[in-house]
Amino acid sequence: MGSWKLYFVAVFGFLISHTVVGVDKNNFKTCDQSSFCRRLRKLNPGNSPYELLLDTVSLDKHTLSADIRNNNYNVLFKLNLIALVDGTFRVVIDEKQPLKPRYKVEYVLNGEPTVDKLTVVEKNQNAGTIKVANGQGHSVILHSKPLKFDFFNPQNELVLSLNEKGLTTLEHLRHKPDHPKTDEEKKEDGENNDDNVPELQYQEENDPGAWEENYKSHHDTKPRGPEGLSMDVTFPKATHVYGIPEHADSFALKSTKGQDPYRLYNLDVFEYELDSTMAIYGAVPVAYAHGADGNTVGVFWLNAAETWVDVEAGRSGRADVVSSLVNLVSGSTAPLPSVRFMSESGVLDTFIFMGPSPSDCFRQYTKLTGTANLPQMFALAYHQCRWNYNDEEDVRSVEENFDRNDIPLDVIWLDIEYTDRKKYFTWDAIRFAHPNEMVTNLTSKGRKMVIIIDPHIKREGGYFVHEDATNQGLYVKNKDGKDYEGWCWPGSSSYLDFFDPKVRKYYSERYLLDNFQGTTNDVHIWNDMNEPSVFNGPEITMPKDCIHYGDWEHRHVHNLYGLLQIKGTYEGLMERSKNTRRPFILTRSAFAGTQRYAAVWTGDNAAEWSHLAVTIPMCLSFAISGVSFCGADVGGFFKYPEAELMTRWYQAGAFQPFFRAHSHIDTKRREPYLYDAQTMAHIRDAIRRRYSYLPLWYTLFYEHSISGLPVMRPIFMHFPKETDLFSIDNEYLIGNYLLVRPVTEEGVSSVTVHLPGSSTGEIWYDVDTYQPLQPGKLNQPVTISKIPVYQRGGTIISKKERMRRSSALMANDPYTLIVALSANHTAEGNLYIDDGESFSYKEGKYIYAKLNYQNNVLSYSLIDKHASYPTKAWLERVVIAGMKTPPKKAELRMLATGTSSPLHLTYHTGNDVLVVRKPEVSMAAPWNIVFE
Ligand code: NOJ
Repeated sequence: MGSWKLYFVAVFGFLISHTVVGVDKNNFKTCDQSSFCRRLRKLNPGNSPYELLLDTVSLDKHTLSADIRNNNYNVLFKLNLIALVDGTFRVVIDEKQPLKPRYKVEYVLNGEPTVDKLTVVEKNQNAGTIKVANGQGHSVILHSKPLKFDFFNPQNELVLSLNEKGLTTLEHLRHKPDHPKTDEEKKEDGENNDDNVPELQYQEENDPGAWEENYKSHHDTKPRGPEGLSMDVTFPKATHVYGIPEHADSFALKSTKGQDPYRLYNLDVFEYELDSTMAIYGAVPVAYAHGADGNTVGVFWLNAAETWVDVEAGRSGRADVVSSLVNLVSGSTAPLPSVRFMSESGVLDTFIFMGPSPSDCFRQYTKLTGTANLPQMFALAYHQCRWNYNDEEDVRSVEENFDRNDIPLDVIWLDIEYTDRKKYFTWDAIRFAHPNEMVTNLTSKGRKMVIIIDPHIKREGGYFVHEDATNQGLYVKNKDGKDYEGWCWPGSSSYLDFFDPKVRKYYSERYLLDNFQGTTNDVHIWNDMNEPSVFNGPEITMPKDCIHYGDWEHRHVHNLYGLLQIKGTYEGLMERSKNTRRPFILTRSAFAGTQRYAAVWTGDNAAEWSHLAVTIPMCLSFAISGVSFCGADVGGFFKYPEAELMTRWYQAGAFQPFFRAHSHIDTKRREPYLYDAQTMAHIRDAIRRRYSYLPLWYTLFYEHSISGLPVMRPIFMHFPKETDLFSIDNEYLIGNYLLVRPVTEEGVSSVTVHLPGSSTGEIWYDVDTYQPLQPGKLNQPVTISKIPVYQRGGTIISKKERMRRSSALMANDPYTLIVALSANHTAEGNLYIDDGESFSYKEGKYIYAKLNYQNNVLSYSLIDKHASYPTKAWLERVVIAGMKTPPKKAELRMLATGTSSPLHLTYHTGNDVLVVRKPEVSMAAPWNIVFE
């Protein structure tokens, strides 16, 4: 077929598949259609053929090494159990003498993990066990036969076991049988030579997909044959399991018994379905298990191949006192919560996080995989996107309309149509003929532009990227060693092989200002379609037998592809500004470590209430998996949101980390000013709220960058024993400061809010009224302008309440402090200030301050005393909520000079709120306000 015909077939086929209503499940495999998943899932618990050979155990300072034998095949594996700092262990199992090396994931860990000491506590030859301990009070008992690892906390309680169910597998690489194997070959392949052929062997070799696999019209040649691996992880003290994004599902994972496992395989799933274990764009293989005792443990499965995860959500999902009693009375032995990772290929490499608190676990994970760099301030503000803004005039008019209607706006985005016929790093010569002017017009007002760059490259003669890539060998190869061709937006395309350092260098240099005319340091990047999406590929992605740098098949590295693209983009943007400006990148595909380079969004959702609701569990799952900078297309990508849904979506989005409206090219325009005046006013109010809380978001992102703790947090992170809220999907915390319960239901006049903390005597304040509220269930009336948000008693939030057109214009604006008193009349909070865009904070040009209210004194002091920043911002107002007895007077005291001045107070008896007006003190240096 000629290339035009092929193009037509592919695009037409894609359009057909993209005009169905809802996801076309036929495009994506079930576990049963995936040979390794089918094989591994068929294994029955309890028959582990693996044995740790005790007499091979050796120990150096931090690593226990030993041989493991698969007694079915007589094949040897090498085990390394490594103690790491911060309550973490690493377990690596590889073939001792593989036919070929197995793939070991690169680029994900943020440097080599720091080791801790490991010592042998006891070796019991009779029992077949060896016990080792790290320097932090955790211990591990390794059982020899069958192989099992039990992990104990410092109280000597068993908190996690590996291979408790005996479902661990490592299919060793072997010769392809082209005939029934001779005894000689069996011996060569290390197999037992008896008639008693074990169950596993049948499954590996008799599965029709073990050596080549067909899916729809696609054939996978599988040159290396079966190389699957799996491990079961049991959590004896937990009740709930979380993590393994990205799925459009509840936050607490569901038991997968009787349905497909959760799948981790970066895929472009058109109109993804909700309440589903299907794979979508992102795949982060980390899971956490949490229990009623308030403790959490975690497991990170470092594998970049297609992975499925079976989950046992434990004692009917609610192992609270009641269900434990039911179990006791009924004698039922409900299965322990567990996960079982099953991957197609690679070395078995897994990390265990011992917690004990949820925060400890989340930090232990980011310690390994890194945190998000501090974003520029604009990135936390409001973004306006559409597929597509048609031309330069359109961009100008959108911006003008925002200004005309007093709606704050920081960023305008351009989707694929800005390019010259989908050739990235070019501009459409007619519609975007003057990119420099367009960009300068926008950025001169402190605004920014984000433009899209996808990883597929149009195969067109004369297109410089294609020519370079062809001539320099920069493309991923097909199984025959030719440049792989697939279909994407431009038609026939090839894909840069970002695994090759030479390709990343070439690609990152495309971003240099000289190379990409029309851009400036204020043009940031959106990397989309980087699963990678291939319209005519198997499951809309790249065939697994394509070849990458280092001769690895795509099968081995699939889930890393997008990560490597954004790494290249990040390096390019850093080089472009000579390391002076913090890059902003948005990526659709995600893996462990993505947070170091980019923010994520939840892809092509729809203007439906259920899609609004699922943004919360989806971003929460990302947040605990290291990726705090998450958002969803506000308004929904497909379909048109009517006024109520649009309003509620803006109200929800204003309280999610990444706040961007976006829509499909075929949908009706829906910029906020196109709605009726009242709806626009509600949307404006939601966006303004976002801007007023920017200092809080910025502070939390700074803290995330140093502590690794999520910005958007599940309730159980701060209320780890509040069992009733372990499964809540419609509430979350922002830092430790705010509880948000977005309205995600249509036509409601009230919603139920669960305020946690009854056992700790918590107080919550409605942020609109400062009304103090007791923990428990609350019926919150919600008019269309109401966003149910509550400030936690005991916290101080710094806000900026003067409304401007963009965050840049707010840099020197004064602060308002909201002091929400706890039951014992104290409160504290942090504030981070810097220039909002450069890296000079790394040289100490910032303020990281503590606000503390205690014994009638509100103090502002520097946490990092060595750092300073000459901010022009000052203190305009202090609001103290929960002040039962008003002070008679207040005085401002400057700590550096010793000077003091009286302050003006207003007390509101109705809601016990004290307002201090115009302290007019700079936020650059410490001060106290003393109340008497
Ligand atoms: C798919 C992305 O998910 C969507 O946001 C974008 O608008 C289209 N690609 C076109 O680039």
